[in-house]
This record gives sequence, structure tokens and C-alpha cells, in this order.
Amino acid sequence: MTNDKILFSKNDHLFVLLNISEPGEENGIPSNQYLVVNNGKGILIDPGGFGVMPQVLHHLMKYIGPEDIVGIVLSHQDPDIVGGLSSWMEITQAKIYVSKIWLRFLPHYGITDMHRFEGIEDDGDDLALNDVVLKLLPAHFLHSPGQLNIYDPLSKILFTSDIGAAEYQDGDLSEIFVNDFPQHQRRIEYFHRRYMSSNRALRYWLKTIKPYDIDIIAPQHGYLYRDEAKTGLLNWLETLECGADLLEID
Ligand SMILES: [Fe+2]
Ligand SMILES: [Fe+2]
Repeated sequence: MTNDKILFSKNDHLFVLLNISEPGEENGIPSNQYLVVNNGKGILIDPGGFGVMPQVLHHLMKYIGPEDIVGIVLSHQDPDIVGGLSSWMEITQAKIYVSKIWLRFLPHYGITDMHRFEGIEDDGDDLALNDVVLKLLPAHFLHSPGQLNIYDPLSKILFTSDIGAAEYQDGDLSEIFVNDFPQHQRRIEYFHRRYMSSNRALRYWLKTIKPYDIDIIAPQHGYLYRDEAKTGLLNWLETLECGADLLEID
């Protein structure tokens, strides 16, 4: 199943959701790819696994040609993010941004062109794209030790990678926003309790994102959050026990 949706469009700035499921999706996890375009140049966020690459490219070309993708951000090292990267590196000249702690592991995906990578420090960085400066914000241990979020100040969209992610998808995601958070929460609870490292990491992340005016929370899998669902998610995460919190000693 494939979808692309413009989440924000004003002047020459676009924030687009490309929702593409892996072929044979009963075995894989449906994933969201995002594209930010400013004045004709683009940043691709979490391009996805090997199987989705042709479809992502097809949808992306409605907005921008591969020659105008100047950056690719990898929120972390997982295969549903990095699996298709070799192909993207062949058809673009983009620089690749990822936490510095994963740089030496990425050659194991068959990537050799490591001079195109820029390792992001633990406290994040700014990423300029023509008239906008995107914020690469750390979300350590949620779930990866070097997880990155991306905040776009023009659209007020925060890409949160696996935070808020849903492994389920009803239909083709034609309704892209969560409309009943308590019901949705029951369906994302297992994933967050099992994959997120600790409540301390969650509260540290909440403190990190607090200064930013956020209209939409956009995860790497499943539905997006705005209005009450956004508040519901943030309140729920503040007290959620997960990961190492659940290990019983004695
Ligand atoms: Fe992940
Ligand atoms: Fe993921």
C-alpha cells in the first residue's frame, strides 16, 4: 500500500508524508518516510528498507528529483531505515546524517562511501536547508542510544522516529491522524514498553522537546498525532514504565 500526503505547504516549503509498506508486509512493519522541501531542495528522513525504495522514489518524484535531495537523515541504525540506503546513495549526491555512534557499524550494510556521512554529536545539531534550519534533537535510548528527532520550525512538525510508533495499520492510512488516543494507546503499549529503554529516558526527552512549539508529532510507523492525541501521547509517555524499569531484581 502506498500513500503520500502533504502535511504542510506554505510559500516554497513542504513537509510530506510518504507512507509505503514493505512488499509482503505481513512479515515487515509498515513505515513512514518523510520529505522536507524548501525552495526546491530536499531532505529525506528515514528512507526505509530495501523493498520500499522504488515506491518511495516514485512518490518522492512528484515533489522533487533525486538530484535535488541534498540530505538524508537516519534517525538510527535499524534495517527499516537504512536497508535501502545504498540505492539512495547511488541516485543522489546527498550527505547522510546519523548519530556519530553508528558510523562504524553502517559499512556492514554494504555501504562504502563513508566520506558522505556526517556524524551527529550527542547533543544534536542544526541542519540548514535553504531558508529553514531544521533541528536535529537527541532522543537517546528511545529506543536507540543515538536516536535523533527532527524539528521543522516552519511546519511545527516534530519527527519522532520510533517514539509514538504503531506497529498496526488499519487500511491504507487514508486517515493519517490518531482520533481516539485512549484506544490507540492500548495498541502501542506493548511496543513502547518493550522497545523504549526507561522512563528516565522518556522524561529526559520530554525536557528536550519542551521549548519547541509542536503542532504535529510524526513517527516512523503508523498514525500521526495532533491536538488532544498529541497531548495524550506526551502525558502517557511521562509516566510510562518501560524497558529497564520492568526488569525485576530478586
Ligand atoms: Fe527502531
Ligand atoms: Fe522503526
